[in-house]
Amino acid sequence: MPRQTIDTLIILGAGGDLTHRLLLPGLGSLLASSRGRALRLVGVDRDARTDAQWRSIVRKALAGTPSRVGDEVIATTTYARADATSAEDLARVLGEATGRVALYFALPPAVAVRTVDALATITLPKGIVLALEKPFGTDGPSAAALNRRLQTLVPEEQVFRVDHFLGKSTVLNLLGLRFANRVFEPLFSSENVERVEIVWDEDLALEGRAGYYDRAGALVDMIQSHLLLVLALAAMEPPSSVGSEDLRGAMAQVLRATRPWKKDGTASRRARYGAGRIGRRDVPSYVKEEGVDPKLGTETLAELDLAVDTWRWAGVPFTLRSGKALGRRRQELVVTLKPVPHLPHGFTGPSHPARIRIGFSPATLDFDVVTNGHGDPFDLEWDRLSAEFRASELTAYGEVLAELMEGDPTLSVRGDVAEECWRIIAPVLAAWRKDRVPMETYPAGSTGPAKWATSRD
Ligand code: BG6
Repeated sequence: MPRQTIDTLIILGAGGDLTHRLLLPGLGSLLASSRGRALRLVGVDRDARTDAQWRSIVRKALAGTPSRVGDEVIATTTYARADATSAEDLARVLGEATGRVALYFALPPAVAVRTVDALATITLPKGIVLALEKPFGTDGPSAAALNRRLQTLVPEEQVFRVDHFLGKSTVLNLLGLRFANRVFEPLFSSENVERVEIVWDEDLALEGRAGYYDRAGALVDMIQSHLLLVLALAAMEPPSSVGSEDLRGAMAQVLRATRPWKKDGTASRRARYGAGRIGRRDVPSYVKEEGVDPKLGTETLAELDLAVDTWRWAGVPFTLRSGKALGRRRQELVVTLKPVPHLPHGFTGPSHPARIRIGFSPATLDFDVVTNGHGDPFDLEWDRLSAEFRASELTAYGEVLAELMEGDPTLSVRGDVAEECWRIIAPVLAAWRKDRVPMETYPAGSTGPAKWATSRD
């Protein structure tokens, strides 16, 4: 069935940070790419703004990726002052839209829920696609309730749950590497793999986001959504196609099999940064950052061990970790291989197990190989095969918007997947609430608490 492309993109929350920082630049990269095509862009927010003021915001955001299509979009874009939680306002905005519409919720989660409620009371344009940002719900039950509510509005293919990690070409590389090469896929199982680590360390601290982050924390902000999707791509069974049904089905299947390594959630670690220095920046301790409520006990670094209960992965721990204010950006998937079944007698070494490292930013691949040494040929040495991949022409948001505008839900998080991701972390959140896992500290700019396995390289 040919897909129906979107003609009008309406951004609710057009005056917000997400729109300026990520969505519009992403749109710019899309419009300037080979996949760019004309569309009508409508910005919606509660503040008074003229079309000309809005146009200048869009122009600025698109300045880094100038294009003819971008100029057309800037010339025709309009602004509507409206309350995204008012049914009347939404009916007015939607009534003025032409062709097939995508309604993008660049809104805080609580407001987004009220927008969904308001939409339930009006007649929606045929074929409308609703694009919702993360976090999708605040826990399993609220995500399930939101899914049920959305089901009453539009079919699942018309709900686009945005997770920009699925738009990262470097994350999607996992599919090509695994399923289009003979060398990797046969290695990816408990027969060869000792453990898998998915690490997303950031050198950014809070960046003024206390209002959101202090209630989320590293586990919910990064692991619940993004890193579990990376796990799904790394651990899923080979799909028959990369179409939305097959790919999202395979992701859902492996996530359904995923659970905390210890069912009570205690195979997990949490920590918060103290004062320190990152490069030339002095960083205050997290609890001293503006807007932080120390009583909430929010972690800025989280790590948990997961099991994937399938024939392929039984017994292999998957450790997911992410945190802020670390000394170095380290964003990679590390597959540690088991030792060979028998090392011929007479060889000495190798001293550590072989690893495959798939770097996400920049996109790299490092493969450890043991070779006969330069000196004594029976003294084994490590060599590393390294490759760097080209960056995609689209930003992650550009890719997500491309799929949204092409009417393709492949890179949208399916409803059941969003619920599974909450289910997987629920025991960990519960164990932390009961203080069954201590809160540790690490100086900003360090590699995290020294004893954590993933703090070492
Ligand atoms: C966002 C998180 O979803 O992803 C941020 O809310 C995080 O805290 C960001 O910094 C990381 O994504 P990227 O693409 O900037 O590496």
